[in-house]
Amino acid sequence: MRSDVYGLPGLCGNNPARSARGTGDAALRAGVVRQSRQPARSGRLARAGIDDARDRIADHLNAQASEIVFTSGGTEADNLAIKGAARALSARGKHLVVTAIEHQAVLASCRALEAEGFRVTYLSPNHDGLITPDQVAAAITPETVLVSCMYANNEMGAIQPIADIGLLCRGRHVVFHTDAIQAAGSCRWTCGRCTSICSPCPRISFTDRRA
Ligand SMILES: Cc1ncc(COP(=O)(O)O)c(C=O)c1O
Repeated sequence: MRSDVYGLPGLCGNNPARSARGTGDAALRAGVVRQSRQPARSGRLARAGIDDARDRIADHLNAQASEIVFTSGGTEADNLAIKGAARALSARGKHLVVTAIEHQAVLASCRALEAEGFRVTYLSPNHDGLITPDQVAAAITPETVLVSCMYANNEMGAIQPIADIGLLCRGRHVVFHTDAIQAAGSCRWTCGRCTSICSPCPRISFTDRRA
């Protein structure tokens, strides 16, 4: 990643515009300056804070730091994971399997993909609010590129068997996404299982807001 900082004079602590005033440089007169290659101290501190957070989240999820992507919230994370995977894999197939009890963030992403020509199978839960791996297995076709099953339901609180569903998807070469927005808190007490939960789960939407 480039560390050059572009900014307006006066915004950054280390402001070469001030020292270069009167040089006649057109870019400086226009108000756009190229800062030194060394980011300002505040930038370095922000970068260190984000890197630290990235490392700690990766550690918690048993993931690589490079796999952590920060978004504005859960809705954006769900959109990115679902639309991103579906569109990237559309040459392989245009079928998705999701549960009918997903949050609107997931369901709206699926509707958007349906408008683009994808087919979506919506799985209904049993009377305990649970989706079974057998249901998922029966819904997967050679056209299926993504399965999305939430971790913890935001209305019923049902905890889905995502480790088993994730392993099933891995065996069928289908990308698995789980919306774990409501599960950050519960993931703490199932942390011993996190390795088995996260390793078969290439895409997780996660937030601290509901922990
Ligand atoms: C399960 C679930 N997914 C996604 C979201 C959307 O998250 P956000 O409000 O951060 O966009 C929520 C919000 O409550 C949620 O409960």
